[in-house]
Amino acid sequence: MSSSRRRNSEEQVRLVYKGRSWSYPVVTGTEGERAVDISTLRRDTGLITLDPGFVNTGACSSAITFVDGERGILRHRGYAIEDLAEHCVFLEVAYLLIMGKLPNRQEWQRFSSLMNQHSMIHEDMRDFFLNYPERAHPMAVLSAMVVSLSSFYPEIEQEPMEEVPLDITATRLLSKLRTIAAFSYKKSIGEPFVYPSYRMSYCENFLNMMFSSPVNDYWPDPVVVRALNLFLILHADHEQNCSTSVVRFVASAGGSLYASVAAGICALWGPLHGGANQAVIEMLERILREDKGRVDRVIERAKKKDPRTRLMGFGHRIYKTYDPRARIAKDACMKLLARLGLQNDPLLEIALELEEKALNDPYFKERHLYPNVDFYTGIAYRAMGIPTNMFTVMFAIGRLPGWIAHWMECRKDPTQKIARPRQVYIGETARPFIPMDQRP
Ligand code: ACO
Repeated sequence: MSSSRRRNSEEQVRLVYKGRSWSYPVVTGTEGERAVDISTLRRDTGLITLDPGFVNTGACSSAITFVDGERGILRHRGYAIEDLAEHCVFLEVAYLLIMGKLPNRQEWQRFSSLMNQHSMIHEDMRDFFLNYPERAHPMAVLSAMVVSLSSFYPEIEQEPMEEVPLDITATRLLSKLRTIAAFSYKKSIGEPFVYPSYRMSYCENFLNMMFSSPVNDYWPDPVVVRALNLFLILHADHEQNCSTSVVRFVASAGGSLYASVAAGICALWGPLHGGANQAVIEMLERILREDKGRVDRVIERAKKKDPRTRLMGFGHRIYKTYDPRARIAKDACMKLLARLGLQNDPLLEIALELEEKALNDPYFKERHLYPNVDFYTGIAYRAMGIPTNMFTVMFAIGRLPGWIAHWMECRKDPTQKIARPRQVYIGETARPFIPMDQRP
């Protein structure tokens, strides 16, 4: 377990408070990052820490993903994102994240065939889709369907985790989430559902379930299939981000994989997190429609500190340099659009101009605000024919292996406690109670 790989160094941090002092050990991770272990702080001193947004707080030790936001490094299980994006398909990265190693040929065949075996969802779940209004946001449908899986497959919930091979649990959810996502789209456009096919790969299957219909003999374009694999890889994990922390929170209370992932989907939906890819396209469309392409206006508005006019797809809690995923996404997006003959997409032109101007603007420079992974992914998904309200669903499909890996790591960690932050109370202090008939 990862916690056993962190080192207690000789270093100590001394806290002096009201004439007394205490020492707290500095623990060091395998990449050299250091943290003060304050787990006995309150017991020792009566103090708690206050850190809104957990800007300085490590919630766990983890062996899944390493991010160095100052140097723009992202590695999954030790492998650079650049290598994984170039050489792997999405499911290989999913396997890596969940199982901790890249699959050999035999493991790969088993994983792929399990993926096919578990791709269908219970026929009765179709009724759920049919009862949603057509305008329902696919993220709402996705989270509800994931939590509903536990009712349709209760045996999965009841099996003690160690008795179910990890790859079976993982493939069940990975495979079904993709089917649910495509069904939610078909429902929203009023077309019949398309079932998964054993003849197709993971990404081909998804595209086929999205775009084929009884009147359209569709076969996924290999260029689009490759691009989809790449974009899903870029989303696959990003250590203790908002949605993954939510998954770990639910897991820490003993919550099931399905409940934890459904909660993670809801957290991802927010526009400051995974919902940013939808917000980016809406922003670019607004610039084109209302600002007549005047990028300068948007940059000036973004500096006004109004959360509603922030430059979406820009900035990141961890990255203070170019997000390595954004670099790969930009390159892949431009190649994809060129291959599809869409290189003159006006939204791409606006995005490129916006990026260039923002990166040369002192406001963005001083605050180290760079494009994040969401800035170019929406333009690429749009070119693939994926509708805007499905962009965050795409992110969720990509992030699922990370959520599963973190859920499993959390559940297996003997040092894990129920997640339960404290607070500094700032409300009314003890007040005399006045019965209703005596209140003025
Ligand atoms: N546009 C304009 N100003 C910004 C932006 C932005 N996109 N992002 C941050 N800033 C400014 C803040 O106003 C703040 O300025 P100040 O220091 O003068 O007060 C400074 O930069 C630091 O910003 P914080 O909000 O403190 O940074 P934080 O780490 O809390 O937030 C976040 C990170 C939420 C990603 C933020 O940059 C943002 O809102 N970006 C736009 C939404 C977005 O693209 N989200 C996707 C993130 S990637 C992901 O989740 C997959």
